Amino acid sequence: MDYTRHHLPPPTRRLSTEGGPVIDRTIPLLPPALEIDEHNFFDNSDPPEYLEDLIKETEEFVKFHNGRRIALVTSGGTTVPLENQTVRFIDNFSAGTRGATSAEYFLENNYAVIFLHRQFSLQPYSRHYSHATNCFLDYMEEQDGKVVVGPKYQAEMISVLRKYQAAKDKNLLLLLPFTTIVQYLHTLRAVSEALQPAGCRALFYLAAAVSDFFVPPSRISEHKIQSKAGGNQLKMDLDPVPKFLTRLVDKWAPSAMIISFKLETDSTILLSKAHQALERYSHQLVIGNLLQTRKYEVVFVEPNSPEFWIRLSDRQAKDQVEVESLIIPAVIERHNAWIKKSDEMAKDS
Ligand code: PMT
Repeated sequence: MDYTRHHLPPPTRRLSTEGGPVIDRTIPLLPPALEIDEHNFFDNSDPPEYLEDLIKETEEFVKFHNGRRIALVTSGGTTVPLENQTVRFIDNFSAGTRGATSAEYFLENNYAVIFLHRQFSLQPYSRHYSHATNCFLDYMEEQDGKVVVGPKYQAEMISVLRKYQAAKDKNLLLLLPFTTIVQYLHTLRAVSEALQPAGCRALFYLAAAVSDFFVPPSRISEHKIQSKAGGNQLKMDLDPVPKFLTRLVDKWAPSAMIISFKLETDSTILLSKAHQALERYSHQLVIGNLLQTRKYEVVFVEPNSPEFWIRLSDRQAKDQVEVESLIIPAVIERHNAWIKKSDEMAKDS
């Protein structure tokens, strides 16, 4: 990648304060979660209190869109609370740009979208005005005692507003929130099961940045950890979060098309990690991306096909074309083929 070409900083980001990375990403992936891991995790952690409401909303949404394609887009980072009555937590970088942007392109292509997102992360449409660098107040001005959108922003804003209102009027967008890793996983499982009636017309687009480690409920401190609790250091053991992708593929959403993402910071291991994930979980597509270049290029890794890179050209990068505007049509092409194959198999059986 030519970093100067896209005005990007070179990938100098260090993962640790001394020497090499804290997490050795070259070692093989964790084994996929088994049924027993699912029981252990879900039986020993509380579902979010509002889960029943989300399930009901999802069931109604799926019924309403009977026959239409539905994309479940996960978006944003999950938190790992260090205390039950949480003062401190571990978080990650994800702002939800990939998820929110992709959701808009699915909607433009007549998909209904279930947007399972980190609360307060970016959302479809409002994302255009919610960054600190894009504060909506900068778009406003006062005219005769009234607040109006400035003339140079009218065209862009009316286009976003129309799309947003069309999605709302047609009930095409269902927003479901999560914050912690435990809430995310309980909700993902429940929503996947509620989506089963959509069969092969359901598409899972798992763009959320999911925590790999957490403090299990059996070991979490109830109250705020005192600053002197560990002497001069705070030492905690985190457990690996079971890799539930395999349960999703086999049990929670057996007919849906499943797309996972693979994020790395080291370009030399991205492809091998994406291939490993595909082999391990036997789903349909892994989209690989690097932290440093994720807004400019991604790679599709899928069974029986060569790797397929999607890259913005210099011109597109300069014109601020969103890479998701290229990713989503390529994803939909693959979903078309998935539906065709599934329908043919259903006819033959
Ligand atoms: O939000 P942005 O700033 O736009 O950034 C977008 C993104 C870089 C976060 C997104 O494009 C992306 O790559 N998301 C996936 C990041 C990630 O969690 O990668 P991973 O290699 O840790 O996990 C791979 C897959 O396994 C993910 O699809 C995840 O849903 C799944 N997983 C992860 C951990 C876990 N315990 N169980 C899982 O099933």
